[in-house]
Amino acid sequence: MLRGREREQATIRALIAQAKDGRSGSLIIRGEPGIGKSALLGLAAELAEDLRQLRGTGIETEAELPFAALHLLLRPALDRLGKLPEPQARALEGAFGLATGAQDRFLIGLAALSLLTELAEDGPLLVLVDDAQWMDRSSAEALLFAARRLHAEGIALIFAARDTFEAPGVPDLRLTGLDRQAADDLLRDHAPGLGPAVRAQVLAVSGGNPLALIELPQVPDAQEPLPLPRRIQEAYEARIAVLPPGTQTMLLVAGLDDAGDLDGVVRAAGTLGVGAAALGPAERAGSCPPRAGGCPSAIR
Ligand SMILES: Nc1ncnc2c1ncn2[C@@H]1O[C@H](COP(=O)(O)OP(=O)(O)OP(=O)(O)O)[C@@H](O)[C@H]1O
Ligand SMILES: [Mg+2]
Repeated sequence: MLRGREREQATIRALIAQAKDGRSGSLIIRGEPGIGKSALLGLAAELAEDLRQLRGTGIETEAELPFAALHLLLRPALDRLGKLPEPQARALEGAFGLATGAQDRFLIGLAALSLLTELAEDGPLLVLVDDAQWMDRSSAEALLFAARRLHAEGIALIFAARDTFEAPGVPDLRLTGLDRQAADDLLRDHAPGLGPAVRAQVLAVSGGNPLALIELPQVPDAQEPLPLPRRIQEAYEARIAVLPPGTQTMLLVAGLDDAGDLDGVVRAAGTLGVGAAALGPAERAGSCPPRAGGCPSAIR
């Protein structure tokens, strides 16, 4: 059961209602791993049960294959290619390896739009694209081209993406941690027997991230430092990897400190040749991953 997210649910409801009214719209649900983007796409699919739906996803291992994601999404609609203006049909056929010829990005974008419009002739259409950050560039370009030109077709087009996905001209719906009540409810759903101390610890460490709230209580001995779920950990690793080497060393030292003793951390880092100034980039980037090499409380 989806907890909290009232504002986001209302936005999605409105987009679907609008499509049923014959007006189109698009949206990108953004946020860190585990924050609940796919869950909201799932909600959209449920809310639009009575509508035709197209679902696609970016696949990390296919991110270098031009038009792979677009092909995955539009495959169920390819029998309508004949209804498209000839140059657009040829362009899309070329992109999907169904014909030879030069690939014209403009025509392919138009063809994607025309194909969605063609489907929406039968009734309102919901298009969901998960993990858009892993779409190959060509597919993303074509779909965003279409998204920016949606108007009165009765199409709701919703992407879910991590922050690396660039999509100028398409509205963002940014997810942050669940509010306290929703986080508490979610935790009760998944770990009803948790003692108050561990419960408080999990709530604090998770920052309201639903995946963390679900996964952290699964650790058998919650008195030990709680390992973050791999997906979240990887995201933090990526954020830390772009920081200067001295700052990374500082974070490593901070992660070894469990007393929140900033002076001690700075002194220890000093013995490794890293000065206090190395804290700056971590503070500015907000890179204080809880328990996964986190910062002392003094610089949180
Ligand atoms: N509001 C919510 N209420 C209850 N459960 C939720 C909520 N949001 C997310 N969840 C659950 O939390 C877990 C992580 O959510 P989800 O998979 O949607 O994250 P995500 O943002 O798509 O992550 P990723 O970037 O890795 O794809 C899932 O098990 C999901 O069902
Ligand atoms: Mg997801």
